[in-house]
Amino acid sequence: MEFQQVLKSRRSVRAFSDDPVSDETVAALIEAATWAPSPLHLQPWSFVVVRGGEAKAKIKALCEQAKQAVIAADGPDWVKKYGFDFLDQAPVLIVVFSNPNKGGLGGYFNQPLGALQGSSAAVQNLMLAAAEQGLGSLWLTFFDPEALAAALGAPEGLEVAGVIPLGVPAGEVKAPPRKAPKVFSEAYGQE
Ligand SMILES: Cc1cc2nc3c(=O)[nH]c(=O)nc-3n(C[C@H](O)[C@H](O)[C@H](O)COP(=O)(O)O)c2cc1C
Repeated sequence: MEFQQVLKSRRSVRAFSDDPVSDETVAALIEAATWAPSPLHLQPWSFVVVRGGEAKAKIKALCEQAKQAVIAADGPDWVKKYGFDFLDQAPVLIVVFSNPNKGGLGGYFNQPLGALQGSSAAVQNLMLAAAEQGLGSLWLTFFDPEALAAALGAPEGLEVAGVIPLGVPAGEVKAPPRKAPKVFSEAYGQE
């Protein structure tokens, strides 16, 4: 697939078919993730591959809890209809962790998010590599990340960059249109 086509074919997929995703494919996607840039090349990411059972149930329960927290706090109405069936459907979830101690020098000059930025780049690489293989994915963050890290037994302090359900999309997903970006010249706000 041509690169522009890969970029544009990646969609947030929230319904998956029964088709499996092999361990080899998962390994290839994680390898693609590791080609992301990171501060001082510290490669702050790590991954937990979840295929089912207890770990998946814990993730889903934390997502349901987060949804209930939004509803209890009178959050946006659409959340009531947002379901997590895609977690059951997806044959594999990849949880991407980020080590905040691997953020490079940014801590010295008011830039503490380097590790998460690198890990987010890794997530995007993974999702684009999935799109190139005809797989759908979702960057899911609808949970308390500390609770999720603890539920999966992550060492203290590791952050969660995202949970990425992966699978063959069940049907086509329409691309949400893009706004024209704000682009200025020489100074913010200057045409
Ligand atoms: C950091 C981040 C967190 C996101 N969290 C969620 C999420 O928790 N649940 C969800 O359904 N989509 C989530 N999304 C997906 C966005 O809703 C989606 O990217 C956006 O609507 C544009 O659609 P597209 O990805 O198909 O272009 C997230 C995206 C990003 C980048």
